[in-house]
Amino acid sequence: MTTCHVVAVIAEKGGVGKTTVSLSLAVAAMQAGYKVAVFDLDPQATAAQWTDRREAEFPWVVATPSIRLDAALDNARKQGVNFVVIDTPPHAGSDAVEAVRRADIVIVPMEPHLYTIETLPKLGDILKLAGDQPALFVVSKAATQGKEGMDAATYIKEKGYNVCPVTLHLRAAHRHAGNLGLTAQEYEPKGKAAEESQQLYMYTIKLLTGKEYAHGKDESANTRA
Ligand SMILES: Nc1ncnc2c1ncn2[C@@H]1O[C@H](COP(=O)(O)OP(=O)(O)OP(=O)(O)O)[C@@H](O)[C@H]1O
Ligand SMILES: [Mg+2]
Repeated sequence: MTTCHVVAVIAEKGGVGKTTVSLSLAVAAMQAGYKVAVFDLDPQATAAQWTDRREAEFPWVVATPSIRLDAALDNARKQGVNFVVIDTPPHAGSDAVEAVRRADIVIVPMEPHLYTIETLPKLGDILKLAGDQPALFVVSKAATQGKEGMDAATYIKEKGYNVCPVTLHLRAAHRHAGNLGLTAQEYEPKGKAAEESQQLYMYTIKLLTGKEYAHGKDESANTRA
């Protein structure tokens, strides 16, 4: 059967960028040639509603209660899906654990604010409980001015976690894109929001495959399908 990468996106706090990161990764993978599905475990169904505003067929976004996750993954694999993103609700709880258990890698967006940083111990516990999958913390919604993003990254690293070298700054393109059922890469392909999202994808795919793609294109996406 096809190799299918599974990425879970979790956080304790609400509104830190889980869905934005999930959809950005999904669209970047799609643009690189993967057949992509997003499973939306959040009862708010933000990702699933995003797809209602969207004309493109991919990525598939399916509102999925966590109890149906295995069935959804099996079904997706049978249909040739080779890149899955699982978006989760805030208050990392049992849904987050279920997502992490099935993931090859876990992405944890962290706003550079003490209220979010204080959730690190709980997130660490969840990750351990769910089997210590490789986790990548990414500083998200950082002010473009000043060094709060860098300070947060340093703090998280000092606590022993793997931090993505790319910070996602506060960029209006993310909000505008979401309103239209797009991601920043589609809304403003040459903008900074798109560039940061693409860099996060490149870093993620490098962790998933162990390979670096010098030209920003994952050449193996189609061949592996
Ligand atoms: N880097 C960013 N720059 C600007 N706005 C952003 C960024 N990331 C997310 N947003 C905006 O912040 C809001 C919350 O983002 P998002 O829905 O991705 O967070 P979430 O963690 O999934 O929230 P929830 O906990 O409710 O599921 C949205 O309006 C989104 O457009
Ligand atoms: Mg969300």
